[in-house]
Amino acid sequence: MGIRISGLGVYLPEKVLTNFDLEKMVDTSDDWITTRTGIKERRIAQDETLTYMAKQASLMALQMANTDPEEIDLILVATLTPDKTFPATACLLQAELSAKRAFAFDLSAACSGFLYALDVAHSYLVSGKVNKALVVGAEKLSTIVNWQDRNTCVLFGDGAGAAVVEKSQDGLYTSKLYSDGSLWELLFAEKCGHIQMKGRELFKVAVRSMEEACRQVLKEANISVEDVDLVVPHQANIRIVQALAEKLGIPFEKIYSNIHRYGNTSAASIPIALYEAYKEGKLKRGDTLLMTAMGGGLTWGAVLMRF
Ligand code: ACO
Repeated sequence: MGIRISGLGVYLPEKVLTNFDLEKMVDTSDDWITTRTGIKERRIAQDETLTYMAKQASLMALQMANTDPEEIDLILVATLTPDKTFPATACLLQAELSAKRAFAFDLSAACSGFLYALDVAHSYLVSGKVNKALVVGAEKLSTIVNWQDRNTCVLFGDGAGAAVVEKSQDGLYTSKLYSDGSLWELLFAEKCGHIQMKGRELFKVAVRSMEEACRQVLKEANISVEDVDLVVPHQANIRIVQALAEKLGIPFEKIYSNIHRYGNTSAASIPIALYEAYKEGKLKRGDTLLMTAMGGGLTWGAVLMRF
């Protein structure tokens, strides 16, 4: 027994903040940001709450899955930037969607949040306790970015992605999740504080850890790199993605990236990328899909599944 993603949806705020806009805010340049990260612009939420963004993405995903909100048994929201300390954004979302049957909770695993949430949903689905789950990655990182710090403010953006997940007869699903709390100081924000980051160290750990996770799931599933149709990695930095592709021996055409448009949207980056890859025809039904992420915690992991 495996799982399948039957619906995908996104919400991307209208306001675009380009590298040229950032040149007017901090001592940086479009050239520096583009060559170091691949990012050209990012979206910034204005009046939108996180719950609103999650709701819009969820409605799209439910429509694609032809699913009524009342059919959903479980709602998971992966986020670093909830609207309130409590209740969980997932509960606010449940109310907004009138998904009356669902139990709902948030999950905090930074940029790996969507993969962690997908794996929790997988466990509930295959256990038989849940028939349909709504898995959301949503972030309003603009609220925790220090807009005076050029080291970090150029990297992040806002957005939401959602997936309706259900059981499938196709058994291909292998996951491997990791955490190392001893490295928390590489990337964190204090309560009500700003994102703080040791970028250079993180870069190396990101490449190494995602490679390790990908190799592990491929090995456990007994699937060769050549048999992977598409890799959808967390969108942190195009150079991290390129280095990962090189290490895994995967041609870059098999790696999906939209980082130039949105920057790093943390837990939202993989579901947004999945949606766009699907819409662009790069991710097709039946594809062997490999997803990998790494983020604050530190947390990292990979999921291999049939799309
Ligand atoms: N514009 C211009 N100059 C800048 C900027 C900027 N926005 N930011 C930093 N610099 C300067 C630095 O001050 C430094 O100057 P110095 O040499 O005079 O001290 C110089 O550029 C080079 O800095 P480095 O840190 O060596 O640059 P690097 O090539 O490592 O790129 C970056 C920095 C983009 C942050 C990179 O290390 C990176 O992407 N790391 C991963 C961070 C990340 O992705 N974090 C997100 C969460 S973790 C994850 O999602 C995987």
